Amino acid sequence: MIRRSLPAVNLGVVTAVRGSVVDSRFEDHLPAIYSVLRAGADRQIVIEVLAQQDEHHVRGISLTPTQGLARGMAVEDTGGPLKAPVGEAVLSRMFDVFGDPIDRGTPLSGVEWRSVHRAPPSLTRRSTKSEIFETGIKVIDVLVPLERGGKAGLFGGAGVGKTVLLTEMIHNMIGHHAGVSIFCGIGERCREGQELYEAMKDAGVLPNMVMVFGQMNEPPGARFRVGHAALTMAEYFRDDEQRDVLLLVDNIFRFIQAGMEVSGLMGQMPSRLGYQPTMGTELSGLEERIANTDSGAITSIQAVYVPADDFTDPAAVHTFSHLSGLASV
Ligand SMILES: Nc1ncnc2c1ncn2[C@@H]1O[C@H](COP(=O)(O)OP(=O)(O)O)[C@@H](O)[C@H]1O
Ligand SMILES: [Mg+2]
Repeated sequence: MIRRSLPAVNLGVVTAVRGSVVDSRFEDHLPAIYSVLRAGADRQIVIEVLAQQDEHHVRGISLTPTQGLARGMAVEDTGGPLKAPVGEAVLSRMFDVFGDPIDRGTPLSGVEWRSVHRAPPSLTRRSTKSEIFETGIKVIDVLVPLERGGKAGLFGGAGVGKTVLLTEMIHNMIGHHAGVSIFCGIGERCREGQELYEAMKDAGVLPNMVMVFGQMNEPPGARFRVGHAALTMAEYFRDDEQRDVLLLVDNIFRFIQAGMEVSGLMGQMPSRLGYQPTMGTELSGLEERIANTDSGAITSIQAVYVPADDFTDPAAVHTFSHLSGLASV
C-alpha cells in the first residue's frame, strides 16, 4: 500500500444504515463519542457518534433523514461535537438543531459556535435566593406563583391547553421581562412554531427572543438534541452577558420520547413501560443545566405532556422531580 501524505480530514466508510442508525468504519482514527460525522453529496447528512463498537467501527444516530445514504459511501469526521451559535446576533432569529437559521433571514454572522454538550454549573456557583417571578396572569401569581430561576411545569394530556397557556404567558411576560427569552420547540406541531414566530413578530418582542425548533417532522436524533442547543444559547446569555433568561419549552415530554427512540434504535434494553433505561440521566443532564448562578438566572416554563393522563407515568414522575412549581392544565 502506498502511504499518502496525512489527509486533512478523517475519512471513513459507511458500513450499515438501519433507519436513523448509521455504522461507519474508520481505518486510523476512531471518532470520539459525540463527534459529528457528515456524509452525502452536499455533506447534508449529519450523524452523531453514540458508540464505539470496536477498534474500527462507530455507531451513530442521524440528525437528518438518511435517504440516499448507502454502504460504501464516504463519511467525514468533523472532529468536534454538535455546536450551537451564541452571541448577540442570534437574538430575533429562529433556528433548527444545527444552528442554521430557518426564518429565511440573512446568513448568520458574528457568532461564536459552542458545543451543545456542557456540564451543569457546579454547586458552588449556584445561587439560592428565592424571589417571585411575576407572570402577569393573576390566577397563577396568586395561587401557583413561579420562582425566579425556578422551573415550572404546565402538565396535562393532549389538547387540554398547555400550548395556549404557555403562549399566553409569553404574551404577558415578555413585554416587561428585561432579559432574553428563548423558546424551544421539541417534537410538537410544526405549524405551532410558525404561528408563534408570526405572533412574536407582530407583538414586536422578537428583538429579545430566540427560537429553536426540532418539531415532530424531524428525526429522533434532532428532537433529542434541540433542547441542548437551546440551553447552550441560554447559558451564553446567563454566563457571558450576565442577563436573566426565560426559557420556554414545549414539550419536555417529547425530549424524553426522542431519547426513548434513540435508545431503542441503538438496541438498548427497554426499561419500565418501554422507556429507556437512561431516562433519569438524560433528563437530569438537561434539567440541571437550567440553573441560577451569581451571574444570572434561567427561569424556565415547560409544558409536560402526560401520556394517557396517567400521572404515575415514569416520564411524568421523572419530570416532576425536577420542577419547583407545577400547574395542572
Ligand atoms: N383557555 C382556553 N379557552 C378556550 N379554548 C382553549 C383554551 N385553551 C386551549 N383551548 C383550545 O384547545 C386547543 C388545544 O390546546 P393546546 O394548547 O394546543 O393543547 P396542548 O398543547 O395541551 O396539546 C386549542 O387549539 C384551543 O382551541
Ligand atoms: Mg401543545
